[in-house]
Amino acid sequence: MAGNDPQALDALWMPFTANRWFRATPRLITEAAGVRYRDADGRELLDFASGLWCVNAGHCHPRIVEAIREQAGKLDYAMSFQLGHPEAFRLAERLAAKAPDGLERVFFCNSGSEAVDTALKIALAWHRQRGHAGRTRLVGRVRGYHGVGFGGISVGGIGNNRRQYPVQLPGTDHLPHTHATAQMGFSRGQPEWGAHLADALDDLVALHGAESIAAVIVEPVAGSAGVLVPPVGYLERLRERCTAHGILLIFDEVITGFGRIGHLFGAQRFGVVPDLICCAKGLTNGAVPMGAVLVRDDLFEDFMAGPELAIELAHGYTYSGHPLATAAAHATLDVYDDEGLFEHARSLEQQFEDRLHGLKQRAAISDIRNIGLMGALDLEPVPGEPSRRGITLFENAFAEGLVVRTAGDTLALCPPLVTRPDELDMMFDRLERALVALP
Ligand SMILES: Cc1ncc(COP(=O)(O)O)c(C=O)c1O
Repeated sequence: MAGNDPQALDALWMPFTANRWFRATPRLITEAAGVRYRDADGRELLDFASGLWCVNAGHCHPRIVEAIREQAGKLDYAMSFQLGHPEAFRLAERLAAKAPDGLERVFFCNSGSEAVDTALKIALAWHRQRGHAGRTRLVGRVRGYHGVGFGGISVGGIGNNRRQYPVQLPGTDHLPHTHATAQMGFSRGQPEWGAHLADALDDLVALHGAESIAAVIVEPVAGSAGVLVPPVGYLERLRERCTAHGILLIFDEVITGFGRIGHLFGAQRFGVVPDLICCAKGLTNGAVPMGAVLVRDDLFEDFMAGPELAIELAHGYTYSGHPLATAAAHATLDVYDDEGLFEHARSLEQQFEDRLHGLKQRAAISDIRNIGLMGALDLEPVPGEPSRRGITLFENAFAEGLVVRTAGDTLALCPPLVTRPDELDMMFDRLERALVALP
């Protein structure tokens, strides 16, 4: 039972965690700097998960810390409806200037899940605005992750995240995922096979009618499902099929944004421009929650048609464009630019790929995948005990002084973009010891 003992761990219901497992051997982090954590026992750990795909510029970056500190003493909050503060407008301008051409309007929220719900709502509202109110269907992809809101789990394609919640948005459907071990096992970078999988959109159009479909949402690289890299030509084809059918294409770049694959957005790496981009995480380096949706300029303009005093989009959050988040985002963008972190990330790619694929013989591994500074490996599950090997790897790594992210029996790796080559080697050395110790 939860009580008043300040050391007790009972009251907190932890997110996406086996709570009883955690309480049996609590692992508490108390400090962080750069690519390192310190735990409650004073042990130093390397962070091979960039927080949770978000701390791209390293922990407690002094410029980001200072920007938040300064902002907290100057303007803590300003009403975000009917009022604004200059730095939120300036941040939107900065993002629009750096985004792919045409994505010039920015809506702020507080997380990736909210960015997804915002983008889905904009898509529905836009079609309605244009007199196509029948376009209500939202299409995601099997194994896609779009956060935990009702919109996000409805278009999401991870069974375990949906099963407990039998009520979801009606009228959703899913494209097939793009992972096929037989055709692309142990691929380095983009697999050659699989562009045709985008044509499954034509099947959904044949089934439901294009006139019923509002939007398709995909992660350019599926992150949470274990780094599923798009086949060569796949995103291009999906873009082309969406345009042909008048369907909006949303890229969920909550993980792939802000340098994770060497560019501001995955859209820029792949040279494919969607109609909307969702982002969060690396926008503020994880230091203050913030999300955003970038929207095509002409979509925004279509909303500006009604009576002047009408609210064009009935949507927003108390904390949209929060001053502390805004300050953190400005400082983070400065750091990315001034320290050349996207270039640095690209310079680490080969070492990352070589070391990752070098793990193949170290344990029972059924696949390894990578692009940019995203990598994953699938462990053969212990028969009858799914997740056992994954969790044991997490525990072994922690004992070796390394924090990794495991989900089921899949390990995902994403070093902070600031990682030095010698630190990256240390991360892989520790991981290798943790893998070799697996039963
Ligand atoms: C692609 C994608 N979309 C949405 C989300 C949800 O973001 P949040 O946890 O900030 O709500 C995530 C989180 O990992 C994600 O990877």
